[in-house]
Amino acid sequence: MLPQEAIRAKRDGQPLPVATIRELVQGITDGSLSDAQVGALAMAIYLQGMDTAETVALTEATRDSGEVLDWAGLDLPGPVLDKHSTGGVGDLVSLVLGPWVAACGGHVPMISGRGLGHTGGTLDKLEAIPGYSVTPDTATFRRLVKDVGVAIIGQTGSLAPADKRLYGVRDVTATVESLPLIVASILGKKLACGLDALVMDVKVGSGAFMPTPEASRELAESIAEVASQAGTPTTALLTDMSQPLAPCAGNAVEVREALAVLTGERRGGRLLEVTRSLAAEMLLAGGLAADRDAALSMLDERLASGAAAERFARMVAGLGGPADLLERPGHYLPEAPVSRQVRAPRNGYLGAFDTRALGMAVVELGGGRRAPTDAIDPAVGLTEIAALGTRLAAGEPLARIHARSESDAERAERQLLAALELGETPPAEPTLIQDTIR
Ligand code: URA
Repeated sequence: MLPQEAIRAKRDGQPLPVATIRELVQGITDGSLSDAQVGALAMAIYLQGMDTAETVALTEATRDSGEVLDWAGLDLPGPVLDKHSTGGVGDLVSLVLGPWVAACGGHVPMISGRGLGHTGGTLDKLEAIPGYSVTPDTATFRRLVKDVGVAIIGQTGSLAPADKRLYGVRDVTATVESLPLIVASILGKKLACGLDALVMDVKVGSGAFMPTPEASRELAESIAEVASQAGTPTTALLTDMSQPLAPCAGNAVEVREALAVLTGERRGGRLLEVTRSLAAEMLLAGGLAADRDAALSMLDERLASGAAAERFARMVAGLGGPADLLERPGHYLPEAPVSRQVRAPRNGYLGAFDTRALGMAVVELGGGRRAPTDAIDPAVGLTEIAALGTRLAAGEPLARIHARSESDAERAERQLLAALELGETPPAEPTLIQDTIR
């Protein structure tokens, strides 16, 4: 079908045949569709939606628009598994989860992203480690996935190139917020990694990518269904993002937190609980554990024994970072020159966070980007962020700001205080893991 006829059909609400969707994605990839046609197609899909069969076809065509990683020749002894998150604040799950699953026998080729809007990016965090390269050559990437079991690296130009073009057009045509386009975009990239199974972490709450709990659930359900129909068994967890997941947000500070969790210095907490649940789903999906209890006890044992920390150390060293990061984090991870304690302005319970605003405060400190070409300041961020429900007396610590200058710290303090509510009564505690969708 001619592109303009396919766009007309979608504009008028007709479902597109699989073959037509493949031709359109081919045209997006090879440039034979003009930007105007790509924009019109995106808007037609945005307005008319796509049914599940169309979304599966769009996902598969996006996945197949470039290289699809193939692990068959490596004779891996365990399954190839990955996790993807819709992103959040203080969400350093990937840094802990990848090595942890590797220590349980999984192979995790994790292609991660940079910070987007108010959310932090795994690559930006890892680049706080001196020498860590997120763009290794293919041979190094494959060797690490085989021998260490995990490598967290950046997107290569050859994976899902159709999405790169389509996303760029969506970004400037008000068509990002379309469920089938989001599903095909996320999954097209992830399924190109040659996975045996995928686990999705879909966030819900004031720091989530999706605007309402209903929209988060709809995304989780669609992802689980579409990925599974596209041949990659996928489970989606709905998890709370109504406050930062870890008590910190930034780049070096989140790497430090990951090390604290991996080495057992930090026990318990929301970050560990969410990571443990996602990891258990991965072990189950990969056939590495017979049931959830067995998965959890294997995970607990591999964390306590130091095996997960050891995988993290080997991954860092294999990608050019220091071999003794775990022993001497303070020597390697940068610290900001200004440290400012923020205190509660009055008595009250910490009742709600505008988590998105907290994330934007970190961006403004220099921990994220306003424009795609901006450099990141790895040292800045927030630590010791009090948890929702904490009863605070006036003057008690709420959080600590790490900034490049006193004026940056002052601005961040104002933003932080504006982003939280102190109430008379304790808030209802948010459920951390709200649902598991299979
Ligand atoms: N993340 C993606 O990769 N694609 C989208 O469309 C939205 C979020």
